[in-house]
Amino acid sequence: MGITLDPHRMPQHIAIIMDGNGRWATQRGLPRTMGHKEGYKTVNEIVRACGELKIKALTLYTFSTENWNRPKEEIKVIMQLIEMAARAELQTLLENNVRLRVSGRFSGLPESLQEALKTDIEATKNNTGLILNLAINYGGRQEILDAVKEACRQVRDGRIAPEDITEDYFSNLLYTAGLPDPDLLIRTANELRVSNYLLWQIAYAEIWVTPTLWPDFRREDLIQAIADYQKRIRKFGGVV
Ligand code: FPP
Repeated sequence: MGITLDPHRMPQHIAIIMDGNGRWATQRGLPRTMGHKEGYKTVNEIVRACGELKIKALTLYTFSTENWNRPKEEIKVIMQLIEMAARAELQTLLENNVRLRVSGRFSGLPESLQEALKTDIEATKNNTGLILNLAINYGGRQEILDAVKEACRQVRDGRIAPEDITEDYFSNLLYTAGLPDPDLLIRTANELRVSNYLLWQIAYAEIWVTPTLWPDFRREDLIQAIADYQKRIRKFGGVV
């Protein structure tokens, strides 16, 4: 039986920790990099599904600041995969009215990847459908530090008084400026960790964890996650 979602209670912003690519490959006796390649297929399916479900924003944890500690070869394959995807998918992004954004320390990425991403960001900037936000070279603590540094500069330059720095003001100094906070955080491969992901933004996010590995994650799993989210009562620290 298909699951029916309530169109009036859709999460506006879904954030995903795409975990388990390595395990998926290892279980099959394949190199870990094959898991990332398979994971890219899932990205394709889930981006399309979010567009069709009229989700406003989807943030994917594509490469964390901690991922630089992985073997060089694996890092290279992930970077190449993102760059290849950025070049290959531009037409699809345009056809589907998807707007691409990137969250993370952009200047730390390989030059050619920066170029490919910039091209897509520029070409899709007027699209009004799904915002696909790739967290690349992303760390939540680093993001908060970058925002604090910017706030300090603005205070130093007399552009804002310390007492006027509100939550809204601070949110707009983060890489995710302008995006609503995620309502739903999905993590695959059964890990019960936040892993330095969107630390400020997930303050009230509903968390949904599945044992399914990212390469096996399908549209039906996404729908299940949203259905579970819709059953929850969000209290935001209050009583209902
Ligand atoms: C986590 O699995 C996955 C990553 C760190 C990389 C995710 C990247 C992609 C799916 C590449 C394509 C993405 C785009 C947007 C083009 P893991 O390696 O930590 O798995 P493990 O925990 O089983 O080792």
